[in-house]
Amino acid sequence: MSRVQNAVIGSVKTVLGWMPERWLPGGTPDPLIGRHGEVGRQASRLDGPQKVQGKARFSAEVAMEGMCYAALINSPITRGRIARLDTAAAEAAPGVVLVLTHRNMPRLEIVPVMSITNMGAVGNSALPILQDDQIRYNGQVIALVLAETQEQADHAATLVGIGYEEAPARTRFEEAKSSARSLASIMVEKNQVSVGDAPRELQQAPYSVDNIYRTPGHNHAAIELHAVTTAWDGDALTLHDSTQAIAPTANALAKLFGVKREGVRVLSPFVGGGFGGKAFWDHQVVAIAAARIAARPVRLMLSREAVYRMIGGRTPTEQRVALAADHEGKFTAVVHTGYSVMPTYAVCPEQYSLGSRAAYRSKTYQFGQRHLDLDVVPNTYMRGPGESVGSFAMESAVDELAHQMAIDPIELRRRNEPDKHPLSGTAFSQRGVLEAYRMGAERFGWDQRSAQPGTRRDGEWLTGMGCATGSFPYVRMPAGAVRIHLTKGGQATVSCSAQDMGMGTSTVQSQHAADRLGLPLDAITFEMGDSDLPPAPMAGGSAQTVSIAAAIAAAADKLAGELLRLAGNASPVAGLRAGEVRLVDGSLVSLENPSRRDSFHAILSRAGREAVAVTASASAPLEMLKFAMQSMSAIFCEARVSEVTGEVRVTRLLGSFDCGTILNPKTAASQFRGGMIMGLGMALTEETLFDERSGRIMNANLADYHIPAHLDVPEIDVIWTGIPDPRSPLGARGIGEVGITGVAAAIANAVFNATGKRVRDLPLTLDKLL
Ligand code: MOS
Repeated sequence: MSRVQNAVIGSVKTVLGWMPERWLPGGTPDPLIGRHGEVGRQASRLDGPQKVQGKARFSAEVAMEGMCYAALINSPITRGRIARLDTAAAEAAPGVVLVLTHRNMPRLEIVPVMSITNMGAVGNSALPILQDDQIRYNGQVIALVLAETQEQADHAATLVGIGYEEAPARTRFEEAKSSARSLASIMVEKNQVSVGDAPRELQQAPYSVDNIYRTPGHNHAAIELHAVTTAWDGDALTLHDSTQAIAPTANALAKLFGVKREGVRVLSPFVGGGFGGKAFWDHQVVAIAAARIAARPVRLMLSREAVYRMIGGRTPTEQRVALAADHEGKFTAVVHTGYSVMPTYAVCPEQYSLGSRAAYRSKTYQFGQRHLDLDVVPNTYMRGPGESVGSFAMESAVDELAHQMAIDPIELRRRNEPDKHPLSGTAFSQRGVLEAYRMGAERFGWDQRSAQPGTRRDGEWLTGMGCATGSFPYVRMPAGAVRIHLTKGGQATVSCSAQDMGMGTSTVQSQHAADRLGLPLDAITFEMGDSDLPPAPMAGGSAQTVSIAAAIAAAADKLAGELLRLAGNASPVAGLRAGEVRLVDGSLVSLENPSRRDSFHAILSRAGREAVAVTASASAPLEMLKFAMQSMSAIFCEARVSEVTGEVRVTRLLGSFDCGTILNPKTAASQFRGGMIMGLGMALTEETLFDERSGRIMNANLADYHIPAHLDVPEIDVIWTGIPDPRSPLGARGIGEVGITGVAAAIANAVFNATGKRVRDLPLTLDKLL
């Protein structure tokens, strides 16, 4: 992000600061806030029965006539070039249809990469895909083999003869620090920020901590592997993809292959987990190119190893957090800086310092991130990008300071709770993290915690409790559109190209549409997962629910206007404007005088219409600039550590969330719990082992990269404040990512409370505790 962009966003924020609130989205609270309808009910996933019966078709399950199967070859070297390439034996192998390499790959432009200023773009890497003989990282795709069966493709891939000329590669974190880059912006925030003289405060303060925290790389491990089934029909392309970005993928493919956007159809009705890893990578492009050259439908499913090696994960970080406090426990310095890897061709800055900027009041501040340019698979977004690892460092440091001062760690946070955004001075839309702590502490039994570490034991097990704050910014993505089709019989179909990675998109939007349109839940059909529908933004940034909700609200307004027009002069609601009616009980009802009403059925019957349809786009998400908005949490953990083996067992985990209105307690609790389990993995087991000599990931499989199994996961309690955010659609903020944040710190803090040992280097494996 450039300095120019910082300046533009800065001036927009200034202008918005002057503007009366009622002119802005969220200026007048959403009328559905606090209404008890379908929203807020424990609806079960509408697609649940399809999934448990195996009727939901995922992208690698779609069969096409004449389909062939692809296998990929990934580079075993890290940097250099392909000096020898012999495809004859593979081409002559049984069943082989095509061997695709840089020699016969169509010449393609670079895919437009994701950025805050181009939400329609989707690429994770600015590297060319199979365009030349250059190897830029270990795992890069260098060939695709297409055959009549998967087994034939896999076998033929072993017959491709490749010779490499290796070149020196940059793979060492420590060495790269001396040439680290400092970006002007991290997302839309200025990167390097200094307020007051933090170094002096650190020196003079009666209490301070100043430590380095390390987090390793993490890899995506969604249940469903990345997969596509694709076919061309002339210049028309169909892609069944497992993606969290349907419309942006269709746009990118049209540009890339030089065909009309209307001719590109991306279908993704079900996605078996995404977490930031399922946007746009090289595999879609090579499969589509192969299908075009072979003039055959193609299925490509990545192996688990290939997901590790060619789909980026979370970068390792090395973070410094320093805190200083006066005798009253008021912060006088908050410092959060550090290093992470981001090759010049990657898009994700791993914004670990952003959460800390909104966390605490202090006299002085210092923030800034530096990025290392290594020759590795482009790192990318992974659940709670930034905050998940950033909160480990910051919230461990707060715990360390509380221990030094002999203050309860919740009390220390309370003393430094800001009443407005600490850096910008912007008002919070709503912030109830202290309420979340109060509720969580009571339910968890925080008063049972021993303030003295290492004093509770149960045989060989030392036990302890810890807590930490989690946070994730509120995001509403611009430019989502929705179509509503309403029949005379009172059935509504709401359509857009939304994505469901398992979180219950259609369920929650059906609940919302029922309330917004004044219809029962079973009168709503929510259509999604198809780029032929009005474009929805990608599912990311925990932003999809409110982004689509805002578009549905806009379309419902437009529908009200259309119905008023059709109602004519004889209607009881004649003369009213869209803003003066509500849609309720299948009718238009005057806000001022509820006895003035006209039913959808009567209006459409009189107009001689079977149905009415409207399409509308969401308002611009200006509330994000006018207010400081974040989802927050208070995480509580009880852990046991064996004195004999050093083994850590989390026995209880509680998340107390402050995320605005909870739209569906059942799907929300499941999202929070899933996030917390990922946090548990981050704390205890997950670690991408990267060989700095070879540039190769050593544990590219689920046997060696440990995600939590059922026996690792304790009872997880989830509660929330439920206080609506007056500035957002439905009063809701995002819930998809905040669940992971704060968890690793809460666990590390519990381990400290149990043992007196402070581990600042994730994961908390037993070798670090003996
Ligand atoms: Mo999320 S990491 O924005 O899918």
